[in-house]
Amino acid sequence: MNTKKIAIIGGGNLGIAMAEGLLKSGFATPNQLTVTRRTLSRLQPLQEKGVTITDNNEAAIRESEIIIVALKPFNVKEVLTGLKNAFDPKRHIIISVVTGIFLKDLSEIFTAPLPIFRAMPNTAIAIQESVTCMCAQGASAEQSAYVKELFDQMGVTIPIDEKLMDAATVLGA
Ligand SMILES: NC(=O)c1ccc[n+]([C@@H]2O[C@H](COP(=O)([O-])OP(=O)(O)OC[C@H]3O[C@@H](n4cnc5c(N)ncnc54)[C@H](OP(=O)(O)O)[C@@H]3O)[C@@H](O)[C@H]2O)c1
Repeated sequence: MNTKKIAIIGGGNLGIAMAEGLLKSGFATPNQLTVTRRTLSRLQPLQEKGVTITDNNEAAIRESEIIIVALKPFNVKEVLTGLKNAFDPKRHIIISVVTGIFLKDLSEIFTAPLPIFRAMPNTAIAIQESVTCMCAQGASAEQSAYVKELFDQMGVTIPIDEKLMDAATVLGA
């Protein structure tokens, strides 16, 4: 059973679909989930289900263990750089679903090494039938199993080598 708190930074189309999928599957209860974005009114349906919504990314990170980054590629580095002091390498696992942003790009943002996952779901995640490819850097077998289980709630998850991610994204789509 999942006992960890999960924050989704960037509650847009994918972030909301993931929140819905995690709730529907029972992997996360509403009080284990926080979703952030700047336009909070768009997150009202999740709030009505008991999910915490906020525009305060730093507070969401500090209160959670699993940080799913679902921002657009153009501002992900800027936003995460501004938040880097909120991350604790002993506590946090980062999962990026941002297209085209490599594990190396993400790890360079942080001063201390953290477990970082890159996952690429496809649009079928909205109906929990995604084929999700995932790869990791600095993660233990236990952490990898946890992240695979998380995405398995929303379809099928395939661990792959990062160099295959672009091809896998095309095939998955
Ligand atoms: N959609 C898919 O099926 C899919 C599949 C695979 C991968 N992806 C990847 O997933 C990422 C998100 O895609 P999407 O389709 O969900 O895009 P999206 O709907 O534009 O979601 C991005 C969200 O980030 C929020 N945001 C922007 N700046 C923020 C900040 N400083 N703090 C918190 N939230 C912020 C935006 O809301 P506000 O403007 O209100 O802050 C927006 O809702 C992209 O990198 C995309 O490549 C998407």
